[in-house]
Amino acid sequence: MREKINEILERTLEELKSANDSQSLDAVRVRVLGKKGELTGILRGMGQVAADMRPKIGQWVNEAREKLEEAIGEAQKKIAERELEKRLENEKVDVTMPVEGRSAGSLHPMSIVLEQLLDIFTGMGFEAVEGPEVELDHYNFELMNIPKNHPARDAQDTFYIDDNVVLRTHTSPVQARIMTTRKPPIRIVSFGRVYRADEADATHSPVFHQLEGLVIDEDISMGDLKGTLDTFARRLYGEGVTTRFRPSFFPFTEPSAEVDLTCAACRGKGCRICKDTGWIEVLGSGMVNPKVLEMCGIDSRKYSGFAFGMGVERLSNLKYNVPDMRYLYENDVRFLRQFRG
Ligand code: DAH
Repeated sequence: MREKINEILERTLEELKSANDSQSLDAVRVRVLGKKGELTGILRGMGQVAADMRPKIGQWVNEAREKLEEAIGEAQKKIAERELEKRLENEKVDVTMPVEGRSAGSLHPMSIVLEQLLDIFTGMGFEAVEGPEVELDHYNFELMNIPKNHPARDAQDTFYIDDNVVLRTHTSPVQARIMTTRKPPIRIVSFGRVYRADEADATHSPVFHQLEGLVIDEDISMGDLKGTLDTFARRLYGEGVTTRFRPSFFPFTEPSAEVDLTCAACRGKGCRICKDTGWIEVLGSGMVNPKVLEMCGIDSRKYSGFAFGMGVERLSNLKYNVPDMRYLYENDVRFLRQFRG
């Protein structure tokens, strides 16, 4: 029996030497040490062995098993090392190879202008706030003094969700949300998407962006509005650009004004962009209608305010001389690349 065990041991040790991957190593292990393996078989056959021999044989088998397990462990280590080496060899990277060119991204022109607008207005003490794009009719129209059946509703081709809910047609409802929840003094700007059922063309898009401003305090006058917008115009387009106020009408302001800026392309001399007028219309504004103040719970005898709203695509396109609004949304990299700072 001793010889048989030794023979198994020697033979297996020999086999282990030539096992050079983990699969063949495992096969050898199972064949000898597995449940139905050769050494295990000897222990199982113990029933037929004389009782006094059993402890001895058990001991030999265990010694042989220990030696084999050690040898298998060694072999495993070697194989793992070799496999790692092979993998590293295959994955070798030549760090001296030239890399593929990868160009950095750039900010969208609207993002650049938005950042500037926020800088300009927060620099004047305005706080930036946001409002929902899916808006209640109540805020979008009613509190802005545009009741149902008011003709001004026709001018803003509205996407209705249901009778009481719309996609906001302007950022003015943010005014109402702020006035109904805060006490003066109020000085906010609000930027965001607005929606109108318009066909997309060079100057229209069913989705575009507005920036709204609102100031409410004691003794606020049209002069404050003019000063604020003059500063805004100069900071965005440079020295020499000023504002021109033209009387207009909005239900939520009284009096109302449309505001033109000196054409930044020709500095007021007259060119193709401003149709030789030297002026470009960019925003609506006015003194907040006392009726709106009262509906929003603000005492119109004590407080007054001004408001303005502007289309940001237009401001951006004027700044960069972009002739068509659709360029802003098509994400053509040949267009976008030009705004790399
Ligand atoms: N909400 C107006 C529009 O979308 C723009 C506007 C005009 C906003 C006058 C104002 C304002 O705050 O005072 O056409």
